[in-house]
Amino acid sequence: MKKYIAIAVIATGTAAFAHSGVKDPDVMNRMMGMSELAKQMKVIGSMHMGQASFDEAAVNAALEKIAEEASYIPSLFEKKALDPKSEALAVIWDNFATFTARAEALRTTAAGLAGTVEGSGDLMQVMHEIGRACGACHSDFRAK
Ligand code: HEC
Repeated sequence: MKKYIAIAVIATGTAAFAHSGVKDPDVMNRMMGMSELAKQMKVIGSMHMGQASFDEAAVNAALEKIAEEASYIPSLFEKKALDPKSEALAVIWDNFATFTARAEALRTTAAGLAGTVEGSGDLMQVMHEIGRACGACHSDFRAK
């Protein structure tokens, strides 16, 4: 899983640049996982905002990708790694069961929504539910 993400970083290049200065590969990999989540949210968000035309297949594919990425979160954070540029709070590793449960909540939410989106009117609910699952973890485990 980690290897797959690292390869994706090399393939896209630009994302790696955004995190220049991060030397720890574990920190880099988990940031890339998060960036991928944000990228998929942007796909859905831009349709929700009317900046892109509604594409049912693309929304459902983004939800599936979010569910897949969420399943990688526990392994990406398994090793305690801190970096000056990291926003991860040390409490993650004091309370890894809760952290993992938040990742699983995102996974099940995204997997449950995948395949259900039929019209642009469904996007508000999707943004709300996924956003809440991201925020539930960030509020406890990510520095603001
Ligand atoms: C299980 C916990 C958890 C969930 C769920 C989660 N995140 Fe994160 N996220 C984190 C942590 C911890 C960090 C800080 C990582 C670091 O800086 O080392 C982070 C960082 C980020 C970052 C900044 C990455 C960077 O480049 O430094 C973005 C963007 C992000 N998350 C987006 C999302 C989105 C979008 C979702 C939902 C689709 C989401 N996250 C779900 C824990 C989570």
